[in-house]
Amino acid sequence: MDSWWTHAVIYQIYPRSFMDANGDGIGDLAGIRARLDYLAWLGVDAIWLSPIYPSPMADFGYDVADYTDVDPQYGTLAEFDARQIRVLLDFVPNHTSDRHPWFVESRSSRDNPKRHWYIWRDAAFLDGGVPCTPPGSSLAGAPTSRSASSRSRPPNNWLSNFGGSAWQWDEATGQYYYHAFLEEQPDLNWRNPRVEAAMFDVLRFWLARGVDGFRVDVLWHLIKDEQFRDNPPNPAYRPGMSPYQSLLASFSADRPEIHALVMRMRRVLGEFGDRLLLGEIYLPIERLVTYYGPEGPAAHVPFNFQLIQLPWTATTIGVAVEAYERALPGGAAAAWVLGNHDKPRVARRLGAGQARVAAMLLLTLRGTPTIYNGDELGLVGVVRPAPESLDPKGRTLPGFSRDAGRTPMQWDASANAGFTTGGPWLPVQPDFARVNVAVERDDPRSMLSLHRRLLQLRRTDVALARGIYTPAHRGDCVVAFGREFEEQRRVVALNFSSDVQRVVLEGGVGGRVLLSTHLDRSDAVSGEVLLRPDEGVIVAVEERRRSPRPA
Ligand code: NOJ
Repeated sequence: MDSWWTHAVIYQIYPRSFMDANGDGIGDLAGIRARLDYLAWLGVDAIWLSPIYPSPMADFGYDVADYTDVDPQYGTLAEFDARQIRVLLDFVPNHTSDRHPWFVESRSSRDNPKRHWYIWRDAAFLDGGVPCTPPGSSLAGAPTSRSASSRSRPPNNWLSNFGGSAWQWDEATGQYYYHAFLEEQPDLNWRNPRVEAAMFDVLRFWLARGVDGFRVDVLWHLIKDEQFRDNPPNPAYRPGMSPYQSLLASFSADRPEIHALVMRMRRVLGEFGDRLLLGEIYLPIERLVTYYGPEGPAAHVPFNFQLIQLPWTATTIGVAVEAYERALPGGAAAAWVLGNHDKPRVARRLGAGQARVAAMLLLTLRGTPTIYNGDELGLVGVVRPAPESLDPKGRTLPGFSRDAGRTPMQWDASANAGFTTGGPWLPVQPDFARVNVAVERDDPRSMLSLHRRLLQLRRTDVALARGIYTPAHRGDCVVAFGREFEEQRRVVALNFSSDVQRVVLEGGVGGRVLLSTHLDRSDAVSGEVLLRPDEGVIVAVEERRRSPRPA
């Protein structure tokens, strides 16, 4: 039997930016509740909430100080319990806040019972105490000396995703701790069974409250190399890439032991029935698919981020879609995304025309897609000067701020786009009077109307909802594929160019356009379909003739 999520569409809410009900400029649970009618109208099945737990907000909630409550900025546990929609919570198992009581204990002394809940290592020294920090090294956080005769450096060369060394020196206890992200986000030691037990109890706490599953933050990071070997240089590194990418994370992530852990995590969800484990995993496809479980069920769905990461050309995307479909283990669900709170918005990356084509691709491919809040309006966000970055990544790595992808939802043409009656924590777009839910809802050709029509079709059209994927046509400018369920056949043809393109329907069959990204046609087609610039269409292909039955 299918699970609830097999054909569901998930909608990611970045709570800080969705809707502010109390006028403090920051979104909250009451705001989300006030907008549930919008989500029902739009036609999504479940929401994934980026973290709502108590947090000092060094990384806007991805630094959790208490896993079993709601931050007062967002509301209360009682408000959460009163939800009326399927909810996936963001589970952040790789690291806590440095203010989490576990870490406060852990750093209090070397023999504290929680010491080994985190990853503590001695400094590295050269024989004889000769200084060993490589010339020109930018390793941050290293003590200059521990004694008059010796100098030290971090235990290995692992880098933080947010710049500098991933090791932070703790003067009080004379050791380094590891943080894959901010120094305020120390990594938990998942090789310690007590950590696993405590974190699985966190899952149970929320599962017992009825959450429908979890999006698991940086799932592939949880287990690190037991010997803490240095990461190798990345031969594909080029100037302009984030310094983190100068090394391959061969030893700091995606270690073989992760798979058994994910299976155990999945079993905890299984104790509560049909709940979804959606993994955040940025890995090449051949590694990604191993997270479905090499030896048994693991993650239900590891996110596939290729539509965000790959160059947006018909050839690249067409090849990637096919390769992924071929690589998926039998029966596995696919999980495409076009955007999230860590990336520039899809309409900024691709432009308005191609963002519509991308929306059609996302919502017609097989599997469980996720829409990032605001992408359905075509938001592009607001890029601000680097020194103003509120995102900590933008402060340590100028040019890499994630603020622009997190600007508030635009609800109507009133002040602050109806997001808040106070001062919004990030600015709304200057064009908010035109680009907002109220205006787009009334415009039958808007990006919002396109999303709604795609979602309606996906729900009612069995081939799009449940059909198999079949490759149909690939070229320099067009991606086309089929979705088939029993006798029903749909062809999705997407023009990635600004020229007219012609797509031949296999077998010279005819059909009818069910939907165009331009929202202005429902014509009959025969043998081929002509695509206007930046146009995608879904064609209902005439039923194939059944073979005559033998007499
Ligand atoms: C991935 C999250 O999506 C991102 O926002 C966060 O900064 C890191 N993980 C660390 O939790």
